[in-house]
Amino acid sequence: MKIPFSPPYIDDDVLKEVKDSLLSGWITTGPKVNALEKEVKQYVDCKACNAVNSWTSGAILSLKWLGVKKDDEVIVPAYTYCATAMAVMDAGAKPVMVDINNDLTIDVEKIRKAITPHTKAILPVDLGGIPCDYKKIREIVESKEIKDMFSAESETQKTLGRIMIISDSAHSIGAKISNENVAQMVDICVLSFHAVKNITSAEGGMICLNLPKPFDNEKLHSWFKIMSLNGQTKDSFSKTQLSSWRYDVVDRGLKINLPDVNAAIALAQIRKYDYLLNERKRVFDRYYNCLEKYSWAVLPFKSNQEIQTAYHLFPLRLNPITEKQRDLLIEYLAKKEIATNVHYIPMPCLTLFKNMGYEIKDYPVAYDTFKREITLPLYPQLTNEQVDYILKNLVEGYNTIIKENN
Ligand SMILES: Cc1ncc(COP(=O)(O)O)c(C=O)c1O
Repeated sequence: MKIPFSPPYIDDDVLKEVKDSLLSGWITTGPKVNALEKEVKQYVDCKACNAVNSWTSGAILSLKWLGVKKDDEVIVPAYTYCATAMAVMDAGAKPVMVDINNDLTIDVEKIRKAITPHTKAILPVDLGGIPCDYKKIREIVESKEIKDMFSAESETQKTLGRIMIISDSAHSIGAKISNENVAQMVDICVLSFHAVKNITSAEGGMICLNLPKPFDNEKLHSWFKIMSLNGQTKDSFSKTQLSSWRYDVVDRGLKINLPDVNAAIALAQIRKYDYLLNERKRVFDRYYNCLEKYSWAVLPFKSNQEIQTAYHLFPLRLNPITEKQRDLLIEYLAKKEIATNVHYIPMPCLTLFKNMGYEIKDYPVAYDTFKREITLPLYPQLTNEQVDYILKNLVEGYNTIIKENN
């Protein structure tokens, strides 16, 4: 039984939408992107949405709009995919890494301690779909003490008057706290539609705007549209309308627009996302209910009355196990044709960040998590029979490896 790690969800509705785009005579940014922006806005209940070609580009554009520059600091967790910190660097600022909690989300008390007069934004990561503690993060940025320390330089910073919260919600479309979507609890929420995400457009992302007054989110939406298309006032679709050729370039933008043919995939998926999310929950719960009985299985956070995850990953930790034994378990499962993964190698363990001076000893929870972590396949297409096959081999593999290597 061959089990891939995270294949995209492609059904007849996806094929129909893509075919429709391909045969429409228009395949880059146009009506499908507009429709996707509308659907996502409705789903996450934010004030405006801008589709872009990746999470990374969406985060860079958001930070550029915030006006970050050299020596400005943006707080990120050490335990995430490198894009979280890379976006900060590409926008011209410095990532300040802090450790995580046991539930894999950023440690809020560590955020408080890391804030300096240079801090311009916090970029919490909803790892595996688990929403961060945005209530507490908001309390911090809105507290008098932290606001007094805030030094606003750009127009955006002056209007906001505090540290901005931009969520890395690459994993968490559909995650909620007290019935509020993540996008409703932060200033800007950036989603990823990369190939392995809950909703995909092969590559892609969405900037979900939720700026407080006096910001005008609709106006901002128009500005983000222009800035994601080289600063050009008219997209090529509008320019194809009869006699509509004239345009201006008003600012130095990026070229990060999402093509319609890509948006078509995500459009078909978002329309049935409640179903897809429920199927993810089915798989997650089946793992959970089986593994609960093993004292060596440290289970990931499960939804409760207040907090709902988006079931993006099943990040299992094993105890006791060494890093070498964990790697052997991955190999054991690979021999059974089961693909697994590790989320994540903490950023301070990667050469780029080591060379910048980050040291893993400063992030003990991140390192301890990494050494013991194995991510199991989790997607709607997995049948119960496949899940049981994965579980059977996981348990056998763990017992064999622990016995043989002790
Ligand atoms: C937590 C996290 N942040 C950011 C990204 C980057 O997303 P994208 O590939 O859409 O730029 C990813 C993608 O894997 C991710 O997992």
